Order: sequence, then structure tokens, then C-alpha cells
Amino acid sequence: MTGSILDGTRVARAIRAEVADGVAELAARGIVPGLAVILVGEHPASSVYVASKGAAAREAGIAERTLRFPAGLSESEILATVDLLNHDDAVDAILVQLPLPKHVGTARILEAIDPRKDADGLHPVNAGRLLQGKPAPVPCTPAGILELLKREGVALRGTRAVVVGRSDIVGKPMALLLLQNDATVTIAHSKTRDLPGLCREADLLVAAIGRPGFVTGDFVKEGSVLVDVGINRVMSRADVERFFPGDAARMATFEKKGSTLVGDCDPATAYPRSSRYTPVPGGVGPLTIAMLLQNTLRLCEARRG
Ligand code: GUN
Repeated sequence: MTGSILDGTRVARAIRAEVADGVAELAARGIVPGLAVILVGEHPASSVYVASKGAAAREAGIAERTLRFPAGLSESEILATVDLLNHDDAVDAILVQLPLPKHVGTARILEAIDPRKDADGLHPVNAGRLLQGKPAPVPCTPAGILELLKREGVALRGTRAVVVGRSDIVGKPMALLLLQNDATVTIAHSKTRDLPGLCREADLLVAAIGRPGFVTGDFVKEGSVLVDVGINRVMSRADVERFFPGDAARMATFEKKGSTLVGDCDPATAYPRSSRYTPVPGGVGPLTIAMLLQNTLRLCEARRG
């Protein structure tokens, strides 16, 4: 059996259309939601993500401003920029693209963002509000995954969910959202004993580790739901043949671009055991952007609506 896909592209399109409608309603009252994105350095993947976020925001009618700085910008200069944006009434949402260069204290930057303008929900006040089940902006990737599961009719109440990965931006908030929706949740990580055995107990398995094809069929209970958060670029022909055996379209992409994307799950052995799975690309990725726009709209409504 190969599972059917959970179509993130389709759900993201629906969310973006809803956000555009909400933005138009505000615009009719003379309010234009504003999003400011801060990018420090030349991280290639981050540059691509930031460009996509900016284009999506503009398409939804959001006034988007991307501030690009060289990698050497000091922490105090970044803090000064955040402070300016905190006090700019036209800016409703601030996003600092991660990762930041090593010389910058990420926690200090995130804590400097006004919690009422926290596009990513990473400020400790908002993380705490999420923990307590209070309204707050929620990190975009887990918020998007929850939206996908709900809109695709995946029941969560009473299910066993395993989240592999314990980051502040995906694993921890994902676990809290699933818990709020009555799943029984385990957070697993690189030190977990018998990780495959634990994962095989999951009705819903969320893989957010950042290692290509790490979750193989051996981790997956037959008929479970797989959410693959990873976006990993593989550059070797041997990897493409291993992850996508007999997939002529993938091989053609690889021949053309010299690389292809694979998630944290092994498409050859993990996806076929699931009842439903999020593909890479086209699963979780598009939702992250859609939820950034939704967070921006909601922050605008809360502060100025
Ligand atoms: N880097 C990769 N994903 C994200 C995200 O969702 N938000 C931010 N700020 N940085 C990221």
C-alpha cells in the first residue's frame, strides 16, 4: 500500500486566498497590514525562503519590506533595527529569518521583538501563551501542519502522536498543538532509546530532524499518518536512486538541476507504509508561508483592527 498525499499546496492556496480576503476587508477601512522581514547574511536557502515570503505577502495585499544586511552586522545594530520596527505603526509583524550568523545571540534578538508583532511566535511570552493554551501567534510550520491535518480530515483525538525533533520552532510547538487537540504526544529526539520502536507506536508521526531520509519504513506503523517536515537537498545520483527508485520524473529533475529535495522520511520505504503522507516538495513547505501571512493578518487585526 502507498498512502495518499496530504496536499499542502492545495491547502496553502486556500489559506492564502482567505488571508487575501481578510486583507481586502481591512484595506476597505484604510488599514494595510505590514510585514517586515530581517535577513542577515547570505545563507543561500534563507535568501530563497525570504524571497518567497515577500512575494506571497505582496500577492495577498500585505505591505512587505525585506531588510537585507551583511553577515557582519553587529548584534546591537540588529537590536536597533528591531526597535525601530517595534515603534513603526505601519509594521504589524516582524520576522527575523533564522539561522542568524554565529556572532549574534538569537535569543536576545527574538526577545527584543514586541510580542504583539511577533510573526513567528518565537518570543518567550508567546511561547508561554501557547503552552497555556491562550491565543498567541504560533510558529508557522507547526501551525500549518495542524491546519493541514484539520482541513484534510485527519482525526487527532485519542491518537498516539510521536514528534521526532525538539526545536523551539517546530518540535516543541507541534507537540503542544497536538496535545491541545487531544492527541497523546511523545517528543522524541536523537538520544531517544529504540527510536524506530517508539515511532512504530505512532498513529501520527511528525519527522522534524533535518536528516535526509532518516525515517525509514522500519519506523512506520502500517496505515499511520506521516508528516515530513524536512527539506533536504541531495546532490548525489546514488542518493536519488536510493530514495526514488524507478522514479523517472525525479531523476529528470536531478539531471536538470544537479540536485533534488528529499524530506526526513525515506520516500522508498516510509511513505508506502503510511495511509497518508506529506510529500516533499508540496507538503509542509507551502503551509509555512501561508501561516506567516495568516499570522500577519491576525496581528494586524489585534493591534489595529
Ligand atoms: N528559518 C527556517 N524556517 C524559518 C521560519 O519559519 N521562521 C524563521 N524566522 N526562520 C526560519
